[in-house]
Amino acid sequence: MNRELIIAIDGPSGAGKSTLSKLLAQTLNYVNIDTGAMYRSVALAAQRQGIEPTDEAALGRLCDNIVIDFVRSATGERVLLNGEDVSEAIRTPEISLLTSRVSACKVVRGAMVRLQRKMGERGGVVLEGRDIGSVVFPDAEVKFFLQASAGERGRRRYEELMEKGFQVDLEQTIAEVEERDEADSAREHAPLTRAEDAVVIDSTALSIDRVLTEMLQVVRARRRTAGLPENPQIGE
Ligand code: DC
Repeated sequence: MNRELIIAIDGPSGAGKSTLSKLLAQTLNYVNIDTGAMYRSVALAAQRQGIEPTDEAALGRLCDNIVIDFVRSATGERVLLNGEDVSEAIRTPEISLLTSRVSACKVVRGAMVRLQRKMGERGGVVLEGRDIGSVVFPDAEVKFFLQASAGERGRRRYEELMEKGFQVDLEQTIAEVEERDEADSAREHAPLTRAEDAVVIDSTALSIDRVLTEMLQVVRARRRTAGLPENPQIGE
């Protein structure tokens, strides 16, 4: 193989995907693509323009004109929507719920999948989302499906939101995580699915370090099978 790997990380919200994909990308010196942030950016743009999540035609036009970029800055990875830093604005509970609805729309998915394929086709990428291993890159060399119990995922989301200064209720956050998972899993187009060949890791009782170690073991083995040279960052 003459390019670096494409690594897909799928799973429900709060399973640890974004933390782990960032760490994995850093360790391997790969580009990290947070596809949820792309759907969130579309939802934010739709909200600002007063577009209903059911208005497919308007959402299609919106996607045709949207520019989403990921940039690295001193404060970490930032998401730019038409040049504006929206990293915080896309993380509110309101946008989370709206994103779940907007991302169920077929034209939105089509547009985002095309963009994601373009961003990842040259390899050396970690993409995290819900349909990466099943739809976006079904031939990805490495596929992970990260999961954790609903209670644990809700608790993690709660802590994350409190840390960011949102005043939220634990029970309500758990209920919202479950509600969103239900919507993401039941939707008609590209529902959350575990690719048959994905390596499943349940992070409920595992530390971040432990999950990363397991992932690196899989990556190392796949690099060998693919005939890639030794990566000094992770050894053989
Ligand atoms: O991973 P996240 O919480 O930032 O995702 C936000 C929403 O976008 C969530 O409702 C699932 C949806 N999503 C999706 O449908 N497909 C993806 N590849 C990534 C996210």
